[in-house]
Amino acid sequence: METKIFQSDQINQAAALLRQGELVAFPTETVYGLGANALLPESVKQVFAVKGRPSDNPLIVHVTDFSMTKEYVESYHPLTEKIVQHFWPGPLTLIFSIKTGSLSPVVTGGLSTAAFRMPDNKKTLSLIEETGAPLVGPSANTSGKPSPTTALHVYHDLKGKIAGILDDGATQIGVESTVLDLSGEVPTILRPGAVTKEKLEEVLGIEVPLDKHLVTESETPKAPGMKYKHYSPDTPVLMIKPADWKQAIAWAEMNNKKVGLLTTPKIADQYRSADRFVFADDTIEAATRGLFSGLRALDEAQKADIIFAEVFPDDHLGLAYMNRLKKAAAQNYFAEK
Ligand code: TXA
Ligand code: MG
Repeated sequence: METKIFQSDQINQAAALLRQGELVAFPTETVYGLGANALLPESVKQVFAVKGRPSDNPLIVHVTDFSMTKEYVESYHPLTEKIVQHFWPGPLTLIFSIKTGSLSPVVTGGLSTAAFRMPDNKKTLSLIEETGAPLVGPSANTSGKPSPTTALHVYHDLKGKIAGILDDGATQIGVESTVLDLSGEVPTILRPGAVTKEKLEEVLGIEVPLDKHLVTESETPKAPGMKYKHYSPDTPVLMIKPADWKQAIAWAEMNNKKVGLLTTPKIADQYRSADRFVFADDTIEAATRGLFSGLRALDEAQKADIIFAEVFPDDHLGLAYMNRLKKAAAQNYFAEK
């Protein structure tokens, strides 16, 4: 199958393919999604096949506005309106209890809840509109690879396997949306993202807990997707705390290891390396935007034996960054023996 790249004046062609049951990847502000018509179970099945994704891992239903969720949702948490008003469109996925039979079990993984999100991307909102149906969209990568932040990343992983990719350049945020469970009494964060715990608490005026698995690694996550090993490049990754860079570089030199640096300009300026991916500036926003792209670039270049990646504080957007980095690094920090 030829995978076509669509520009913004070709949204109608991309929508026609989705209506016919084909798969088309779409841009969002977080990462690219692998789109299928959410109302065609056979197409949704293809999403799992193409990604190599376990079928018990439910998908996000992407909508053009809040009213589009009403057909499917059984009951809303009392804080829903406030949350939607503040954060949609945006990088926040909401879990609601759904009406039985309103969505295919292929979409929900057979759960009585489903995930909804209105992405902040005009092209994708028109794509959903023109398709005339909500779109499921897991990240458009092969399972186990970093999520794609450019159309080229999607092409690299899925060319020949999907009908098209709607191109909108590089994504703004760089990691997947926050997943907030609103199906119980207490709104709970199942996956950290750019709508941070701190922002949610400020807007809602209550404490918004993290799901237990995010606090204690041994707990089974409530978001089924969080239990799989994710975002894992072939080159081993070690996380380097700010105070440990000097020692880590000395250790690599002593052991003849070629190091790939994934770091801020501030650190990169101080050390030589076999290869490097330097974030656009020293902020956590730039690091988050560059994380997956950097992991892919270093991994594909195959110049390094090991990737040294910069650690940020575990709060605000840093919580999302560290959550993804820890998975890529299989939890391994550099520690001097
Ligand atoms: O930013 C994003 O969210 C991107 C873009 C494309 O929108 N999409 C994305 O989808 O990251 P995916 O499928 O890779 O992640 C969806 C997450 C998974 O961890 C899944 O387990 C969880 O949401 N999820 C979906 N439905 C759920 C449900 N009913 N209850 C709990 N977790 C759910
Ligand atoms: Mg994913």
